[in-house]
Amino acid sequence: MDRLVIEGGTRLVGTVGISGAKNAVLPLMAAALLADGSTTLTNVPRLKDIETFTDLFSHMGCGVFADPEAGTLRINASRLTRMEAPYDLVKTMRASILVLGPLVARFKTARVSLPGGCAIGARPVNLHLMGLEKMGADVAIEHGYITVKTSGLKGARIYLDTSTVTGTENLMLAAVYADGETVIENAALEPEVVELAQALKKMGAAIEGAGTDTIRISGVKELRPLEYSVMPDRIEAGTFMVASAMTRGNVLIKNCPLANLESLSTKLVDAGAGITAEEGGVRVTGNWPIKSVDMKTCPYPGFPTDMQAQMMAMMAMASGLSVITETIFENRFMHVAELRRMGADITVDGRNAIIKGLGRLSGAPLMATDLRASAGLVLAGVVADGTTEISRIYHLDRGYEGIEVKLNRLGANIKRIKE
Ligand code: EPU
Repeated sequence: MDRLVIEGGTRLVGTVGISGAKNAVLPLMAAALLADGSTTLTNVPRLKDIETFTDLFSHMGCGVFADPEAGTLRINASRLTRMEAPYDLVKTMRASILVLGPLVARFKTARVSLPGGCAIGARPVNLHLMGLEKMGADVAIEHGYITVKTSGLKGARIYLDTSTVTGTENLMLAAVYADGETVIENAALEPEVVELAQALKKMGAAIEGAGTDTIRISGVKELRPLEYSVMPDRIEAGTFMVASAMTRGNVLIKNCPLANLESLSTKLVDAGAGITAEEGGVRVTGNWPIKSVDMKTCPYPGFPTDMQAQMMAMMAMASGLSVITETIFENRFMHVAELRRMGADITVDGRNAIIKGLGRLSGAPLMATDLRASAGLVLAGVVADGTTEISRIYHLDRGYEGIEVKLNRLGANIKRIKE
């Protein structure tokens, strides 16, 4: 297992480019299953999660041709042999559930391992299944697998009790071939949902309302394979914005989807950072002392849960008291114990973390617990006094393309120790 060794105390200065969005690529890959022929995706980042998904597509019998250097991925879904996602793949990446909708839509059957809980919460998929049942599918859970069968999905009115991102995506993917109109209410508003709708439309689907809480899909008979360039990753961009702000840095972020990062930008400005859109990117400058600000994670366009750990690291460096409330996942404070090892003063009370910013962190040996928590710890290590060593960084490789390479180009001192 690789480790990162970070010599801290650096200020980040320079230019960084943002890669394609992990959480957009995964549903776009799932969309490839809907068409007979070859889908080509470009601007695909080199990430472990995408490799895992690629393995699943090979397992199902797709032809998969990846050129990681060029950032292209071709998926030929003409001849599937297995409409199933096995436990071994789903347990490493729960977003594998995204193949359920398209498999049922095109082949009328699917068998997908039921994802278990994960480091950040229980994360049920009941709403994905409820939606398929509303469309007339028979859903059973047997031996740890979800089995879905249908003689043909029918349009339905589906109300989601909780706004769910992959749930909305899965049901959009399922509804494209259904007989009649499907209406998804309380749909997720996330930019990745809008991206998927745009891609499906390009394939010939009839979808209206993505980006609002009501999405309407009229079933069609056939879809064309897709050619699509993936949007930049708003969470990777947000992570570099925080990195610059908390190190008193001056970083120009290229391909930064600032329009999708308003809730984060507002908090960073309140904390004293400067954010300006320039030709070629977004410049983020940091100022010390960092001001403490409160935040509460919410579905888009609210403050993203995927930025919570990074902002907590920054608030530990602030002067003053801040409260961070996590409303999306019940167990997404695993980084707190690690930040405390760096001298942070953080108390957790249910869904609230109370951070007494001390204006400093000190390097320590740490353990990464999940993807975004790891990113928070890396940023903490870059700004802290002394050496930080982070183990179990495979979490980080799931969702950040060469994060230490990009940070080092900005002046950080991070070594990857391979084991
Ligand atoms: N929920 C249910 N029932 C369901 C589905 C969701 O109760 O059937 C609940 C969840 O337990 C949670 C809330 O709804 O409390 C929202 O979860 P959501 O389904 O939106 O999360 P997700 O689709 O599993 C995606 C991202 C996550 C990101 C969340 C929230 C992908 C592949 N994953 O997960 O990304 O945190 O939305 O924005 O798009 C990450 O990239 O590190 C990551 C975890």
